[in-house]
Amino acid sequence: MTAAETVTLRRAAAADADLVFAWRNDPFVLARGSTQRSVGAEEHRAWFAASLASAARQLWIASVGAAPAGLVRFDRGPADAAVISVYLIERYCGRGLGVIVIKEASRLAFAAWPVEKIVAFVRTDNDGARRAFLRAGFAPESVENTPDAHAALVLRR
Ligand SMILES: CC(C)(COP(=O)(O)OP(=O)(O)OC[C@H]1O[C@@H](n2cnc3c(N)ncnc32)[C@H](O)[C@@H]1OP(=O)(O)O)[C@@H](O)C(=O)NCCC(=O)NCCS
Repeated sequence: MTAAETVTLRRAAAADADLVFAWRNDPFVLARGSTQRSVGAEEHRAWFAASLASAARQLWIASVGAAPAGLVRFDRGPADAAVISVYLIERYCGRGLGVIVIKEASRLAFAAWPVEKIVAFVRTDNDGARRAFLRAGFAPESVENTPDAHAALVLRR
């Protein structure tokens, strides 16, 4: 990895609303997301503002070098868990950068919240994401309320 490919993470801020809106409806990201549903500008604005204000959610912007490259979201679960969701835009995929993002974001989430585990629900047709989570140290586990057509992978503190 070159210096230009150094991965950094920072908390998302209000000024990132348009950036994340563009990513959210990107066909590559949409096809691999859980809902596979595009959102309108108003719906996104409300969701983004509520997400930034919520103590039960962390949004992180991942950058590669100086360029914003993707988003990591953590949602505080009911018990001792947080649920992770992650994407990089297509041009940054396939170089192992997502594995670094997942590892580093998980470290930050564990530091911010006293949860014992982080759970990823990965679509069963998304082999690339599954392998990325495995490389980042996650392991398959049976988790209650796993959505249909998804598998759960878990990282423990
Ligand atoms: C999941 C993700 C964060 C993994 O990060 P990454 O940096 O691409 O991870 P890796 O480089 O280790 O690649 C993982 C696998 O995806 C495959 N892949 C690479 N580029 C790809 C692309 N453009 N499209 C589809 N798959 C791709 C790789 O071949 C690799 O497979 P391998 O295990 O046989 O090598 C990233 O691929 C991504 O954001 N994908 C789109 C959104 C998504 O799937 N999010 C996860 C939802 S649970």
